[in-house]
Amino acid sequence: MSKQPVSRRQFLNYTLTGVGGFMAAGMLMPMVRFAVDPVLKGEAAGDFHPTQQKVADLTDVPVRVDFSYEQVDAWYTSEVTNTAWVYKNDKGEIVALSPICKHLGCTVSWEGNDHANQFFCPCHNGLYEKSGKNVPGTPPLKPLDVYPTAEKDGLLQLGKPEANNIV
Ligand code: FES
Repeated sequence: MSKQPVSRRQFLNYTLTGVGGFMAAGMLMPMVRFAVDPVLKGEAAGDFHPTQQKVADLTDVPVRVDFSYEQVDAWYTSEVTNTAWVYKNDKGEIVALSPICKHLGCTVSWEGNDHANQFFCPCHNGLYEKSGKNVPGTPPLKPLDVYPTAEKDGLLQLGKPEANNIV
């Protein structure tokens, strides 16, 4: 086996390539992690947001429950305030309805409207029954979404709104 000495040029090439590759990897890894990591972290299913509403105080009359939470959207974090109309149905189950009208997204209300026992949307006179079912003949074509509910330490917790399957 013949000995072939490494030339100065080869030695410098190997050394600079190795050091350059090491430095490039050191710079790229944090950038790749920064770019990809938040996308991989979605909101976990079943996340509930706390409210100040005592479950024991709920009756069969819908009450407005406002609640806030921190929302992380990839790299952006913001404070979100949401509202729900909450009551107990005939079986004593908690029903929490989204106030977002299914017509064009205005806010429906229970209190202070002339339509007894109905949710009313002032934008185009939309009406919903107490269960959230849209009243035929009014603009909304779908029922109000519902929040999944939970209870912790006697206080109501609300999840992410989903399609209403209780009507
Ligand atoms: S937005 Fe509610 S009825 Fe049109």
